[in-house]
Amino acid sequence: MVIRPLSNNESPPMPLLLLADPSEQLVLDYIQRGQCFVAETEGNIVGVYVLLPTRPKTAEIVNIAVMPEHQGKGIGKQLVQHAIETAKQQGYQTIEIGTGNSSIGQLALYQKCGFRITGIDKDFFVRHYEEPILENGIPCRDMIRLAQDLS
Ligand code: ACO
Repeated sequence: MVIRPLSNNESPPMPLLLLADPSEQLVLDYIQRGQCFVAETEGNIVGVYVLLPTRPKTAEIVNIAVMPEHQGKGIGKQLVQHAIETAKQQGYQTIEIGTGNSSIGQLALYQKCGFRITGIDKDFFVRHYEEPILENGIPCRDMIRLAQDLS
C-alpha cells in the first residue's frame, strides 16, 4: 500500500470522504483549502485523509476514512501516522483532530496515535447537522477536540 497526495488532475474520492463527514459542502470546502492524501492498493483508493492548515503553525486532520471492507486492517492508523509525519515535515508545531462523543473507535485510534484530549465543543453536531446522529447507541452531540505537539 502507498499513501500519496491526490494529484491535481484526479477527482477526489467523494464517497470515501463522505464516510467521514456527511456534509458534501464541508468536504468540498476542506478539499479546496487543504491537502488530500490517498491510500492506494493494487490501483484502488482504499483510504483518504485531508490535512488542513488552521491557525499559524497548526494543521488539522479534518477528514479521514477507510473503505468499509478494508477497515480494521491498520490502514486508518497508517493514515494518521502519515498525517503526523507530513505535518512535522512541513514545519507545523501542532496537529489537531476532532471527533464525535459517540465515536468510540475513532477516539481509541487517535489516542493510540499520540493525541490527547484538549477540550469539548459542546453541541457542535446539534448546531451544524440537520439530522440527529446516533452512533454506538449514543447520541452524537459534542465534538471531542484532540491535539498533539510535533516539536
Ligand atoms: N476500542 C479500542 N480500540 C479500538 C476500538 C475500540 N472500540 N475501535 C478501534 N480501535 C483501535 C483498533 O484496535 C486499532 O488499534 P491497534 O492497531 O492498536 O489494534 C485502531 O483503533 C484503528 O484500527 P485501524 O484498522 O487502523 O483503523 P481503520 O483502518 O478501520 O480506520 C477509521 C479507522 C478511519 C476511523 C475507519 O473506521 C473509518 O473510515 N470509519 C468511517 C469514517 C469515520 O468515522 N472517519 C473519522 C471521522 S472523524 C474525522 O474525520 C476527523
